[in-house]
Amino acid sequence: MSEEIRQIHFGRPWIEDVDRNAVIEVLKGHILTHGPKCAEFERKFEILMGAGHAVTTSSCMASLHLASIYFGFGKGDEVIAPAQTHVATVHAIELVGAKPVFVDCELETGNIDIDKIEDVITQKTKGITLVHFAGIPVQMDKIMRIADKYNLKVVEDCALAVGAIYKGKHVGLWGDVGCYSFYPVKHITTGEGGMLVSKDENTAREIANFRAFSVDRTHTQRKLPGVYDVTGVGMNYRMSEMQSALGCTQLDKVPAMLSRRKANFEHLKARLLEMTNLHVLDSNSDEVANSHYCLILVLQGALSSKRTGFIERLKTRGVGTSVYYPQPVPRMSYYQSKYGYDQGKYVNAEIISDNSIALPVAPHLDVDDMDYIADCISDILKEEKAA
Ligand SMILES: Cc1ncc(COP(=O)(O)O)c(C=O)c1O
Repeated sequence: MSEEIRQIHFGRPWIEDVDRNAVIEVLKGHILTHGPKCAEFERKFEILMGAGHAVTTSSCMASLHLASIYFGFGKGDEVIAPAQTHVATVHAIELVGAKPVFVDCELETGNIDIDKIEDVITQKTKGITLVHFAGIPVQMDKIMRIADKYNLKVVEDCALAVGAIYKGKHVGLWGDVGCYSFYPVKHITTGEGGMLVSKDENTAREIANFRAFSVDRTHTQRKLPGVYDVTGVGMNYRMSEMQSALGCTQLDKVPAMLSRRKANFEHLKARLLEMTNLHVLDSNSDEVANSHYCLILVLQGALSSKRTGFIERLKTRGVGTSVYYPQPVPRMSYYQSKYGYDQGKYVNAEIISDNSIALPVAPHLDVDDMDYIADCISDILKEEKAA
């Protein structure tokens, strides 16, 4: 009888009865959107961050878009963007008519190469966007020094960075706004959903208003039902009460989830670094807490052209993987055809996009699963050597 292959999924939302019941409780009532659960989720998120002001949104993309609109990025403006990120970081600039100006990443962390930022600043530069790559914090004090010098707005894409801390401050509170994602495989989930945070109360309040049509009072604040005024143009990028209820129960799991991720990451990293031609992205500073979204393994040397086969062989052994991200954004068809692609300008982003494999460390897995993944990789390396 053949032995059943162990299944290691890349991501699995951590949903228990407490989460399901919270959603059902909302459905027993009558307020299904922008009500008390949204407010509770925002306050709980602020407690997690340790400071600042939080605004629920419909996704991280929505939060990023709101930021670009609020800061007035537009036609004729340039906004610096990391070449190595999810396309949402860059779409938010493109959507408002501004031009994304890409900067390569560091090979050690996958984060924007801060030393290259000043080279691309011009009179037209209005802002810097960045991503805390796979939850590894960017050295935000250096970013803020550049932003202050040139009077630039800073938008942090924190989609993979719940629990990521730089020099004692949660990411998202260094720049002007931080944008979070609660998509199912993220640290916490609300199905779809996002959060926008700001250290500045006024910024958060004004964006919250714009996110909900720029009406001057929510339905719970109206003396007469249906009666309100509108103070500007706006969007509908709100989160529902069902999502917020789920967000609240998910937040309760953050400490346990982060410690499981850290233990998994450290164990797998130690095992992989015993092997040759493997590089693991991690922070290069003692003053950070990585949120350990996943472990990004970069195949080096003779292995660097073997990624597809590696992924397929891991799949055969039941190990789910992903790629963060499949192309440097400037090489993606849309951006390449609009702005051209300068081969050789985003060398590190190309190496990570083309030669890396994202391995799972999420809390549905334990250290024993990490050993299984490491053993599979060790076997594949032996097969490679023998071939
Ligand atoms: C870095 C980054 N930013 C933004 C997003 C988009 O998030 P959402 O699906 O919540 O819009 C993702 C999604 O994976 C991401 O990885």
